[in-house]
Amino acid sequence: MELRGVGCADVEGKTVLVRVDYNAPLTGGRVADDARLRASLPTLHHLLEHRAKVVLISHLGRPEGHVVEELRLAPVAACLADLLGRPVRQLEDCVGPAVSDAIVSGGPGDVFLLENVRFHREETTNESGFARELARLGDVYVNDAFAAVHRAHASTVGIADHLPSYAGFLMEREIAALSRLEKPDRPYLAIVGGKKARSKLGALRDLVPRVDEILIGGGVAFTFLRAFGADVGDSIVDEGLLEEIREIQTVAEREDTTIHLPEDVVIGVDLSTDGEIRTCDARAIPAGWQGLDIGPETVERFTDRILAAKTLVWTGPMGAFEAEPFSAGTKGIGEAVATSGAYSVIGGGETGEAAARFGLVDRITYISTGGGACLAFLRGKQLPALEALRA
Ligand code: 3PG
Ligand code: MG
Repeated sequence: MELRGVGCADVEGKTVLVRVDYNAPLTGGRVADDARLRASLPTLHHLLEHRAKVVLISHLGRPEGHVVEELRLAPVAACLADLLGRPVRQLEDCVGPAVSDAIVSGGPGDVFLLENVRFHREETTNESGFARELARLGDVYVNDAFAAVHRAHASTVGIADHLPSYAGFLMEREIAALSRLEKPDRPYLAIVGGKKARSKLGALRDLVPRVDEILIGGGVAFTFLRAFGADVGDSIVDEGLLEEIREIQTVAEREDTTIHLPEDVVIGVDLSTDGEIRTCDARAIPAGWQGLDIGPETVERFTDRILAAKTLVWTGPMGAFEAEPFSAGTKGIGEAVATSGAYSVIGGGETGEAAARFGLVDRITYISTGGGACLAFLRGKQLPALEALRA
């Protein structure tokens, strides 16, 4: 897919509105993972080198149309100022006279960050008047928010009706890296984990005809195991999905796609790490216990599959890796992905965090900043925000 890139835009001395995705995890009022901020720096440096005035637009969390104090972008502005080595002016809102006056009073090389655009309900409903108000703040629009590219919102879609619009460097890099998966070298293998089966099921259904094999771990695995009659003890199971999972399995057989489930799992009474922890058969978890990681035999078997693949995508950790006793599965699978010579892509903030924690980042071909956006791309879904950026 050819995009109109910011590299070809006339931005010299212009006021450039940049949609970024600074939806970063915060802890104690600070940005806990600045990966999405760092990923936007090439575009920002380019604009600043061309003496543009930069106005950043982002969402944070899902405030659903009103001001939520904990979702203000001030901590993001502070973090970005450190990364850029220059001041970032955090504005109190994202539209209105005070905002436009502040921007007008700025000069080339100034960086403004508008307040959380989702404080206005008109953002997510893509209301055209709101999109126009945002557009009025600048001369040129650059979309570098790959992680929000699957959202048809005012700041990702509507705004592009009113301004010359370009893809930022991150957007271009993401699309180029993920496009390689449209003509994958085979075998093509997907590794799917994460806590909730429900958030991955649509993606799994769409991946079945595209890939050759799927390895399932994390919380997702227990609903799958349950669907095929396993005793999963007190593991988290989404009972409403069992029928659909059996249907996915039927389609997989027809498509000659093998779905691998864990054979053994690490179990605990709960997530506390000081209680008893055991490894057991994934199909015979005792009552009162829950599965919290894939077990060592599964790591070994999954590793064999990973090392045989030529293309790998991985989304969702294999267990509760934040806790040391439940981290071996995610670490082991990460090591296998990093060791393999395959074209490897990681999607999703949490899996990226795991890769960083286990020191794998340099050995993965590409780590996407997108979670839902990356999955949407892998599934072959239309990405509404890309349409406006096509060359
Ligand atoms: C993400 O974190 O996946 C993106 O920022 C999109 O957020 P959303 O799922 O709330 O739209
Ligand atoms: Mg999300």
